[in-house]
Amino acid sequence: MKHFFFILAITLSSAISHAIGNSYISINTDNTSLILHVNTENNLMFMHYGLPIGEAGQYSGYNSYRRVDYGTDPMAYPTRGGRYYNEPAFAAKYEDTDLNTELKYVSHNIVHIQQDVTRTEILLQDPKTQLEIKLIYTAYAKEDVITTHSEITNKGKQEASMDHYASSAMNIKAGKYLLTHFHGAWAGEMQIARELLTHGTKVIDNKMGVRTTHTENPSFLLSLDTETFDENHGEVIAGALAWSGNYKLSFQIDEFERLNILCGINPYAGAYTLKKGQTFITPDMIWTFSAEGAGQASRNLHRWARNYGIYSKGKMSPTLLNSWEGAYFDFTTPVLTAMIDDAAEMGLEMFVLDDGWFGTDFPRNSSKQGLGDWQPNTNKIPEGIEYLANYAHGKGLKFGIWIEPEMVNPKSNLAKKHPEWVVKSAGREATTTRNQWLLDLCNPQVQDFVFSVFDETMKLASNKIDYIKWDCNRHVESFGSAFLKDQGEFYVNYTQGLYNVLKRLREKYPHVIVQSCSSGGGRVDYGALKYFDEVWTSDNTEGLSRIFIQYGTNMIYPACTTGSHVSTVPNHQTNNVTPLKFRFDIAAAGRLGMEMQPKNMTKDEYGFSQRAIASYKKFRDLIEEGDLYRLVSPYDGNHYAIMYVSKDKRRAVVMAYCIKYQGRSKTPLIRLFGLDKNRQYKISELNTDTPSFWGNGKTFSGEWLINQGMNPQLVKIYDSGIWYLEAE
Ligand code: GLA
Repeated sequence: MKHFFFILAITLSSAISHAIGNSYISINTDNTSLILHVNTENNLMFMHYGLPIGEAGQYSGYNSYRRVDYGTDPMAYPTRGGRYYNEPAFAAKYEDTDLNTELKYVSHNIVHIQQDVTRTEILLQDPKTQLEIKLIYTAYAKEDVITTHSEITNKGKQEASMDHYASSAMNIKAGKYLLTHFHGAWAGEMQIARELLTHGTKVIDNKMGVRTTHTENPSFLLSLDTETFDENHGEVIAGALAWSGNYKLSFQIDEFERLNILCGINPYAGAYTLKKGQTFITPDMIWTFSAEGAGQASRNLHRWARNYGIYSKGKMSPTLLNSWEGAYFDFTTPVLTAMIDDAAEMGLEMFVLDDGWFGTDFPRNSSKQGLGDWQPNTNKIPEGIEYLANYAHGKGLKFGIWIEPEMVNPKSNLAKKHPEWVVKSAGREATTTRNQWLLDLCNPQVQDFVFSVFDETMKLASNKIDYIKWDCNRHVESFGSAFLKDQGEFYVNYTQGLYNVLKRLREKYPHVIVQSCSSGGGRVDYGALKYFDEVWTSDNTEGLSRIFIQYGTNMIYPACTTGSHVSTVPNHQTNNVTPLKFRFDIAAAGRLGMEMQPKNMTKDEYGFSQRAIASYKKFRDLIEEGDLYRLVSPYDGNHYAIMYVSKDKRRAVVMAYCIKYQGRSKTPLIRLFGLDKNRQYKISELNTDTPSFWGNGKTFSGEWLINQGMNPQLVKIYDSGIWYLEAE
């Protein structure tokens, strides 16, 4: 019955319009508008994205004062051909070798798909080749997010060999364009790069096929009309592409001082042929606009992600102990059960068995062999995986396990049985990275195998596995598929193959928590998060590095998705030694976990861990669904500070860290945001017996905390503090 009303509602609210020349299409959220224009020649033009325009008809008679016989005004989805000469969103070569595509508006319809979510579909067609492109804009009113993608259908008589097929084109006019984007490497993901765009084209891209987000991330923020990044003031556009393969985001300031942004799959590895009758769906580009600085742009994306963009819809995974850095490959059942005992004793809620539990003929005792042979190693765990799951459950913990199903070691039975499943170019050798090859997810048989790795692992414990850490530890090299006829399809089909598997798995296992790990943060994107619940933010768990990694990651992806663990010292990646409190205080700004051998802790450390885990539970709902305010950037000086505020503004948690010694008397001033000025907040400092803020235990007005601010005595390197605020 409910279903019937939903269909009825869609039918009633969906009406196909055939706009006659010179009409406007408005795509609105509560505080933003995107306006398109069907001009008198039936071209779909781009007019505006930003602050709301209630009445688009006011554009009527708009004159850009450009020469009419030179180039075009900004187009909604520019194509190579006609008068357009900048980088196109779409380009194809047809069988008659014509390289032009000229799209004309045909019709559009607007559908209210659910409360506060509206989908606008605009059909364009090239009258000569009959190629059709549907532009789909989905507007999320409350989050001020608009997602867009294109659906390209070849209705013509010729094949179309596509060299460009972007998801989205955006055209912005401002005086200055300050681009913030992310760069990095393994164990140093999501570092901030910032630059004022100049004429020419700036490209952010990746061509590694898988594990595409270590070096750059398919996301950015763009501050308009300013040379300085401001958290709380000014107009900011933010964008993120939902795609886990090669991507390309380009930013070109043209001769009219307008910024042309194109975002989509990176078509660098050859054209993709669209056969007659075939449809190609590009991934979603997620946009938001804020008139209140970068902070609001992030909060918009976070809210959208929690409501629509993440598989778990923002439900954070349990706190956990992961076996990796505590045991690596060196464990037997008693080692693991002792870790489970300790995890329970410390107040953690899940135990995750990492790499090393499988491989019989080629036991996985190092990274040199075993991937592909997902049978448990009975020498290490004779009692079996189900025993461990039961043991954890018996202690009141959930149980998780690690798999890396897209990979195979040459030293494995799988590699011997199915050499044709390995990604490689025909007639050339496959390269190894971390001693492993990549399996060819373009091949449906490989998709079935990868599905079965997850499925069979679940069966090992009679489906009593609560969490899967899905890893992916290499990128594509010597690309090629023995299955494909046209290697130009490789990169796109690989990612689509991955999504096919994940979709099937989600249908069968809707409730298993699944983490996207790829040598740390190599697969952190909204394409993956459609199927995964969280990401492994980085293999680098060292406190100081984590400040920069989490600061960057949480600009785009909400804290509920970012796994953050406490590990031992000296840190295994950086060798740095930071206090346990500092490590806990930064790990508590995401989904808290531990990744060390509890047996090696002193009594004091053990006790402190219990205390920090207990205090995390007091405010974790704020990390999970609160609004993030970045108070002090770690790039600006000696401190980093953030806070999370509950929706009703009655509770908040403030977190601050000293990252550089600066002289004994220079305390930071941390002015708070997002609180209710008229409420009184009681402040309690957590995880310490020697509070660093004189106001600990006192009550302050929201007005005082916002207008005056806190001055905790965080002066020595790695001093840190967490304050819990509750309205009285
Ligand atoms: C990758 C992951 C680590 C760990 C190892 C296991 O490096 O990022 O967390 O799971 O693989 O081999």
